Amino acid sequence: LQHLLTIEGLPRDVVTHILDTASSFVSIGDREVKKVPLMRGKSVFNLFFENSTRTRTTFEIASKRLSADVINLNISASSTSKGESLLDTIDNLAAMHADMFVVRHAQSGAPYLIAKHLNDIGQPHVHVVNAGDGRHAHPTQGLLDMYTIRHYKKDFSNLTVAIVGDILHSRVARSDIHALTTLGVPEIRAIGPRTLLPSGLEQMGVRVFTDINEGLKGVDVIIMLRLQNERMSGALLPSAQEFFKSYGLTTERLALARPDAIVMHPGPMNRGVEIESAVADGSQAVILPQVTFGIAVRMAVMSILAGN
Ligand code: CP
Repeated sequence: LQHLLTIEGLPRDVVTHILDTASSFVSIGDREVKKVPLMRGKSVFNLFFENSTRTRTTFEIASKRLSADVINLNISASSTSKGESLLDTIDNLAAMHADMFVVRHAQSGAPYLIAKHLNDIGQPHVHVVNAGDGRHAHPTQGLLDMYTIRHYKKDFSNLTVAIVGDILHSRVARSDIHALTTLGVPEIRAIGPRTLLPSGLEQMGVRVFTDINEGLKGVDVIIMLRLQNERMSGALLPSAQEFFKSYGLTTERLALARPDAIVMHPGPMNRGVEIESAVADGSQAVILPQVTFGIAVRMAVMSILAGN
């Protein structure tokens, strides 16, 4: 692997290798992540052109656990606010001997543009990790979601996984669907209002439900998504109350799933909009373990890209 830009098209053995490598970084107890010298002397630049809590922080922790030097560019205080273009910024950071760029951007495709540009300027050895681009992809979130499912369910071959909410604007949903398909999950369901379901889901092998009570019946895994208002036009925007009434995950609705079903959410979570607090904080929720697993998964991705 030179870059991680999307999960789409990644072979199953590569996805499994990333998950296995992540496991090797986790010590007994699932919380301790070993510090290893695999990226000593390498410089990782975190370039977050869009806000983040979990992804940016866990990439920073992961870089430090790999013994890399990590530089968090403060975009609002950088010269992009003086009109410097994205690619000029990249040229300058590459001149500082960057080894890896971790990129989040509101525009779908921005990490691809950077990867191509690095090649064009004779810096093809610099790696790019997509940390979320527009509504397109969020591959490390997809991978940490797969790690979480494997941790709790052991095997992908008998699972029914439901993704619920604003799937249209969700890069997480897209990455999860590709990863679940690659790993052989037999039933993937998308649940949401017609206006928030993209076309083409059925062609990807996904069963579509507009009735959440039907869609949740017998599922093993529920992945809740927030309304991504920042990517919607006002006309499509449902009110928080309307959405919760029709699609919010409540204790009553969770009871339609299998008794051992797990509840996931990539965050940020909006309580009372897509999920009830009693469910978010309940015994079936694995939302915070997802965040913890994200450290080991990001360590795995970076160390594999760096050639380990
Ligand atoms: N899941 C996720 O990408 O969260 P952040 O936006 O906080 O990074």
